Amino acid sequence: MKRFMISIGMVVALNVGAINISAAGIHDGVREAQGNIINGRIIYQNGLGDDVPACAGCHGTGGMGSDEMGTPRLAYQVQKYIWKQLEDFASDKRQDNQMYQMNDIAKALTREQRRDVAAYAHALKTPSLGSDLDSMRKNGDDIGLMYKGKIIVHFGIPERGIPACQSCHAFNGRSAGNMYPMIGGQNYTYLKHELEAFRLGASTASSDDDAARDNDPMGQMRNVAARLSDEDIANVAAFLTVARPSTSGNPSAPRH
Ligand code: HEC
Ligand code: HEC
Repeated sequence: MKRFMISIGMVVALNVGAINISAAGIHDGVREAQGNIINGRIIYQNGLGDDVPACAGCHGTGGMGSDEMGTPRLAYQVQKYIWKQLEDFASDKRQDNQMYQMNDIAKALTREQRRDVAAYAHALKTPSLGSDLDSMRKNGDDIGLMYKGKIIVHFGIPERGIPACQSCHAFNGRSAGNMYPMIGGQNYTYLKHELEAFRLGASTASSDDDAARDNDPMGQMRNVAARLSDEDIANVAAFLTVARPSTSGNPSAPRH
């Protein structure tokens, strides 16, 4: 009996040891996913050597992107999503089909540096403003109809098999975290461009046509984009760029 007690005691001690080890592993895992914001800031604002220009040059110091260049807002985008895109550019799963720069830039960074710069871009808490649709309209750009876009974002168009965008991207496209990026407050030109690229990606692979995007997990976005007309794309982009992440009744939006 005494012997039995001792062996239970030993088992417990061993288990405690095992728990400690795995707890340390989890902690390192969290740190690894979090990235080093200070390293990321240097890369983002200053660039790195000859091969990596400052991200700020195209995505803006505050991470807002630009409609003129067609660059996306990165500020407060889901960190894992930013990191995944950089990995996809680095492995040519996604083609930069706008300025043809992102693939080389991502390749010139190490995996850790891509993670660090994703952490920094996520940490930029620049307020959500969206594109200045009024001046774009004055410049002669064809801008979609917000109220029609809102219906698609909130309810989809069931008779054409189009799901509500917020069923995956959450309220007003503010992001559901992890795999689902923030699309509310994103720039108009970029939103339109990505939806067209996914739509093309539904019928051809990016390896056959550079203008196609097909790096969405399980074809989730291609499936939706395939059903959108040019008009739908302009309409959802017009609504999403000004869509707010919170409502007037509840000003707090969940963190991601
Ligand atoms: C020369 C201009 C330029 C520079 C410099 C640049 N980018 Fe980009 N970036 C772009 C363009 C253009 C796109 C859109 C590509 C597309 O639509 O195919 C883009 C897309 C991205 C995306 C995808 C965002 C999304 O919402 O899917 C990420 C992430 C990104 N860039 C991060 C960075 C980081 C980090 C740096 C600096 C290390 C950087 N970029 C430097 C032009 C640039
Ligand atoms: C079934 C889930 C699902 C639905 C519904 C959905 N999306 Fe997406 N969407 C995704 C996923 C997943 C991604 C991320 C792809 C990746 O990882 O590269 C994405 C990415 C995007 C992007 C690219 C964002 C960026 O920063 O590059 C845009 C734009 C977008 N979705 C718009 C829409 C619109 C507009 C609708 C409604 C018409 C919609 N989505 C409906 C799953 C969905």
